[in-house]
Amino acid sequence: MTYKLKFADGGSFLIGNLPQLTSSKEKLFKIVRKWNNSEHLKPMFVAQVGPYMALNIIDPDIIEAVISSNKNLQKSLLYTSLGPWLGQGLLTSTGNMWHTRRKILTPAFHFSILQGFISTFNEAADKVVRDIKSCGFRKPINVVPLVSEATLHGINCTSMGSKMERIEGGVEYQENLSRLSDSVAWRCLRPWLFNNIFYYFFTSKGQTENKLINSLHNFVDSVIKKRAAGFQVFNTEEETVSKSAYGKKKLAMLDLLLNDQLRNNSITNQGIRDEVNTFVFEGHDTTAANLSFTLMLLACHKDIQNEVFEEICHILGPDLDKEPTYADLQEMALMERCIKESLRLYPSVPLIGRVASEDIVTKAGIIPKGLSFHVHIYDVHRDPALWPDPEKFDPSRFLPENCRNRHPYSYIPFSAGPRNCIGQRFAMLEAKSILCKVIKNFILEPVDTPDSLVLVQELLLRSVNGVKVKFVPRY
Ligand code: HEM
Repeated sequence: MTYKLKFADGGSFLIGNLPQLTSSKEKLFKIVRKWNNSEHLKPMFVAQVGPYMALNIIDPDIIEAVISSNKNLQKSLLYTSLGPWLGQGLLTSTGNMWHTRRKILTPAFHFSILQGFISTFNEAADKVVRDIKSCGFRKPINVVPLVSEATLHGINCTSMGSKMERIEGGVEYQENLSRLSDSVAWRCLRPWLFNNIFYYFFTSKGQTENKLINSLHNFVDSVIKKRAAGFQVFNTEEETVSKSAYGKKKLAMLDLLLNDQLRNNSITNQGIRDEVNTFVFEGHDTTAANLSFTLMLLACHKDIQNEVFEEICHILGPDLDKEPTYADLQEMALMERCIKESLRLYPSVPLIGRVASEDIVTKAGIIPKGLSFHVHIYDVHRDPALWPDPEKFDPSRFLPENCRNRHPYSYIPFSAGPRNCIGQRFAMLEAKSILCKVIKNFILEPVDTPDSLVLVQELLLRSVNGVKVKFVPRY
């Protein structure tokens, strides 16, 4: 039986839900929550803008049916604005290209490689501590720009193998990157601008964006070219990662791609650029969003914050200057539960979109081939049927005994199935490393609270007025 379409409230015959989509971002966020929680629209409904129609899903059984299989890998039109920048990178590619790239990139997130990144994460953490000190104590600080700069440093160093300040054009690159991220986030909510020819040739915003994309591409191309000069092929199984075959420099993700190119002719230069850009895009603002919300939640829950501090002291011992190692970070179980609970309440990627590549059988009927669908991670994570007292910050939800009977698709901050987040262990280690140093150095006092935040969802979840916390030195 084909699923009988239910349409989102407030749509009209020709333009569908365009009026709601063109309301303010704050209002749109609330409208989408209302739709997702309306009993009469459950378990899924269609929202439409002109000819573009997407099914909206928050039921975990249906989510499992649509994202667990090796089919339905194609992304929905929601990702259109990323295409010209990220090309055929892992996030935006599909079919054979995606399969090949996923195979090449998976080893880049092996624990032996991640271990080699810990000193970079600790450097990023030191930067956050320095920045907090320079902002001053006992006054509200918007933590979003501080943690974003740190995670950008982390991803630039681990993906391209160098600090941006040390590369010619690196500072300008970071500025352009931030402008481009804003621009693609702005466009993703405007389907009437999805036609690339119209957008890039006939709108001033599109023309500016095009220049930014070209400048970013030129920069990344030049980094790849320099890194490739004199590059020596190595055997990933045999080489140690901290002292790679690439001289004394630390191994970067780019090196693994260059190595695969030279050994197996598996990826072109443009392909390498697409993947570097994809890492940089996916790998910094996502972790920064999570860190900002986690800092706020810990500031609001002093008892839990104290326990996290005790856990850090227990693992690192009395030496305050001791750098956490990979093993130390792995051991921080309470901190991990706090990060997970923060990702439940504030999933950095609040929704993902795909296209049904074949008819999909679900408990609510068959989703026909060709229909786009959106999985609303934000709302699955706050469904009271899955999460009792859903607004409460309660890291103990992630104790092993409390996870046992949970639906596997009720918690999906990193998505799930074959196209899940390839960088999730990277993100967890980096977030832990930064939280560890911040909490070791400062007591966090609340300024923003879950009630004071004004959330919006673009490609990522964001608080309109930033996320503010006060810091008091511990020593
Ligand atoms: C807290 C941090 C992060 C969160 C919440 C997160 C979440 C996600 C989600 C939900 C997806 C699926 C997107 C979709 O289907 O459209 C995804 C995909 C992806 N993520 Fe992450 N991510 C995080 C950090 C990272 C990091 C640090 C990296 C890289 C270093 C990364 C790289 C990727 C890539 C390349 C994909 C595409 C995977 C594929 O399609 O095969 N992510 N991420």
